[in-house]
Amino acid sequence: MREHTFTTVGEVKRKKGEIPEIGIAVIGFGFMGKAHLNAYKKIPYIYWPPVVKINLKKLCGIPEEQVKENQIRYGFKEYTTDWKELIKDEGIQVFDNCGPTNLHKEPCIEAAKAGKNIFCEKPLGRNAGEAKEMLDAVEKVGVKHMCGFNYRFVPAIRLAKDLIEKGELGQIYHFRARYLQEWIADPNFPFVWRLSKKVSGSGALGDLGAHSIDLARFLIGEPKSVMGITKTFVKERPKAEGSREKMPVDVDDAVAVAIEFENGAIGTLEASRFCPGKKSQNIFEINGSKGSLSWDMLRLNELQFYSTKDEAKGIGGSRTISVTESFHPFYKEWWPHGHIIGWEHTTIHEIKHFLEAVVKGEEISPYGATFEDGYKCAVICDAILESAETGKRIEIGY
Ligand SMILES: NC(=O)c1ccc[n+]([C@@H]2O[C@H](COP(=O)([O-])OP(=O)(O)OC[C@H]3O[C@@H](n4cnc5c(N)ncnc54)[C@H](O)[C@@H]3O)[C@@H](O)[C@H]2O)c1
Repeated sequence: MREHTFTTVGEVKRKKGEIPEIGIAVIGFGFMGKAHLNAYKKIPYIYWPPVVKINLKKLCGIPEEQVKENQIRYGFKEYTTDWKELIKDEGIQVFDNCGPTNLHKEPCIEAAKAGKNIFCEKPLGRNAGEAKEMLDAVEKVGVKHMCGFNYRFVPAIRLAKDLIEKGELGQIYHFRARYLQEWIADPNFPFVWRLSKKVSGSGALGDLGAHSIDLARFLIGEPKSVMGITKTFVKERPKAEGSREKMPVDVDDAVAVAIEFENGAIGTLEASRFCPGKKSQNIFEINGSKGSLSWDMLRLNELQFYSTKDEAKGIGGSRTISVTESFHPFYKEWWPHGHIIGWEHTTIHEIKHFLEAVVKGEEISPYGATFEDGYKCAVICDAILESAETGKRIEIGY
């Protein structure tokens, strides 16, 4: 057992003037905008001594009254409703895109051309073509780029990756993932941007399945081929709450996929927003020749681990690892062991990783997801949609 130690003020070696300052622009103050801003607020005092001085320079969003209010709420110096204003501002070094998916490509490409480091939420583009244009733009200029696959920053998931890399699971046979929600199961739930292909690119697949696809690549390796089935259960919805006017739904409500990996493992993946009672069940299980692992977002700090070594010792059974030790990934800056953390912390770890890469010139990959990972995920999503449409198994080619 080890004691948890905290960094104290006396350990601060850096003089004030040596901490680099970076100007930050954020598009969006909705769900993910709030999660990212929570991270920008906490990073300077949770990670001590600070590696970066955060200057919240400009917030962009619509409508104007709400942007103004959120400028005050989060302490931005300025606000705008026009993302092009962010590109022109030379005091902005980090461009953080938390807008809807149709607002990812053009602003990110323009930001890259202006030399800004870019964080863009997932899915990177509405399709692989858009994602490739974005990847090419950041690579051409050489700025840092990250795509918001935040589950890579769950301590238990990073521990799972470490255990797999150390060979604790042996040869991997299976990956099984589900990401299930309930919020559109009611056919009267009104139309929102996530139900329009023009805005979001796809439905449950890009919204939820993309996270499982990224974890599959992160933990198991590259997929070789996919076979998918998609379904749209409710094909039109009220334009607004209580409205008689209807809007067509042209994205998948649910998707089921069979995957074959390059390394010989096989897997299944399911994503749906039609599962009453499932608020946000993000879950996976991995089976290998020497053991198994499983994780469930609703028990975020726990990793279920079974090792055949325990069987040989006469112990047997699956164990629950409380991933809250100071020696576990990402944990040492938080609380004494057992004092659990939550979903918001994944974004804090992720954005801290990004900012550190920007100020120290470090790599985002392999632990953080780059635009290349965002592009590869988009290729897999497109292949799943093609398979669902043609009834054929589709080979993955990047
Ligand atoms: N990593 C995750 O776990 C996760 C979770 C949810 C959403 N996301 C992704 O984050 C992105 C945003 O999703 P959200 O749930 O935060 O959406 P949201 O609807 O809650 O917020 C969207 C924001 O975009 C702004 N916006 C919309 N149109 C605009 C325009 N024309 N110009 C400027 N600003 C505009 C709005 O003001 C709003 O603040 C999506 O790509 C989504 O897939 C990621």
